[in-house]
Amino acid sequence: MQRLSRRQFIGRSLQVSAAAWLAGLSFPGLAPGIAEVLETGPVDRQAVAENSWLVTWASAFGSTEEIALRIALTLRNAGRIVHTAPMTEIDSIDAYSCVVLGAPIQYDRWMKEARVFAHRHREALQERHVAGFFSCLTLSHKGPAAQRKAESYAGHIADQLPGVKAEEVGAFAGVLDTSRMGLPTRLLIRGIMNLMGVAEGDYRDWERIQAWSSGHGSGVLAQGA
Ligand SMILES: Cc1cc2nc3c(=O)[nH]c(=O)nc-3n(C[C@H](O)[C@H](O)[C@H](O)COP(=O)(O)O)c2cc1C
Repeated sequence: MQRLSRRQFIGRSLQVSAAAWLAGLSFPGLAPGIAEVLETGPVDRQAVAENSWLVTWASAFGSTEEIALRIALTLRNAGRIVHTAPMTEIDSIDAYSCVVLGAPIQYDRWMKEARVFAHRHREALQERHVAGFFSCLTLSHKGPAAQRKAESYAGHIADQLPGVKAEEVGAFAGVLDTSRMGLPTRLLIRGIMNLMGVAEGDYRDWERIQAWSSGHGSGVLAQGA
């Protein structure tokens, strides 16, 4: 497991608080994170390993990271030991019994970092409880065509995550904020989103995200470690 320094841990906690604030939550105080547990005294490491969650993400412009942190907060508030980190910071998932991983859809596929992560850790994922999610702008629309497209995204993600069923993949509407993008991406994405009929905006449905995080939709999240 990647150990965090106290400074890094405080940084992570602040990230979670910021996400909670962004999501309109009051900040209820976090249950101890895994790094804190490991740093603050004697601990049954076996018990930690058997009941520890990793929530990890890829995110080009930050909105999927905020979804991931909201999921982590829900899990922590339910008493789970949760470590949060972007996929790029995770070398090994050995220390975790449950892994929740998410990323945005880019050009009809899960963001590349997530595909690479799923491939690199495939064997370890096979031995763990795994839940996956994605954000996209297709789901800014509500009709059956958007639902079908989102189902195809979920199938594509389930194919990469051992033991994960497509219908349990968390499918969330994301954010279109082209002001966060560099000029070439901004022009390209504005063109694509015009064709898709998507206006700038934050389409995240925090109730839906909360419901999925609480286990309505994913058996892994419901059952826990
Ligand atoms: C380069 C790029 C490609 C995208 N391609 C798709 C797509 O094929 N289908 C879709 O529904 N949304 C697409 N989106 C929308 C993103 O999935 C959505 O904006 C998401 O919330 C971005 O998450 P992030 O802020 O974590 O990067 C794309 C966005 C970008 C920037």
